[in-house]
Amino acid sequence: MGVKPTVVQTTAWWAGKLLLLVSVSMLGACSGESAESLANAHPGQATYNAACISCHNPGISGAPRLGDVDAWQPRLAKGRAVLLDSTIRGLNAMPPKGMCWQCSDEDLAHAVDFMLEQVGASTTP
Ligand code: HEC
Repeated sequence: MGVKPTVVQTTAWWAGKLLLLVSVSMLGACSGESAESLANAHPGQATYNAACISCHNPGISGAPRLGDVDAWQPRLAKGRAVLLDSTIRGLNAMPPKGMCWQCSDEDLAHAVDFMLEQVGASTTP
């Protein structure tokens, strides 16, 4: 009677440890995968493709086109912080947040960085 609870407790402890080990190794596998896909795709590319591409690929209403160095030159001169500000607040025909209402400021910053990288600009803040 006096031994049984200890055995049960020990077994439970080991089961807990094992579960922890399994979940930790699964986490490790997951982060390894995302690091790999991050290396392949820019973190802003998904946001760009979802929210910005419709105007910035065709150049609708004077939107600077993706990868168009000439169109981006005067924009780059303003500096990244101003461009990010225009993105969040909007600018003329450019709607606030590019109409991506669910996007965080960080998502938008990544999308801007993605666009800047396409014209070979530095994205250091
Ligand atoms: C409805 C069309 C539309 C969408 C959607 C859109 N843009 Fe724009 N964007 C524009 C237009 C038009 C301009 C040019 C505005 C001007 O200079 O008058 C512009 C300009 C910009 C600029 C330059 C701002 C500046 O200060 O010169 C940035 C950066 C930008 N867009 C980023 C984005 C990002 C990031 C997204 C997606 C999250 C996005 N845009 C979605 C139309 C759009």
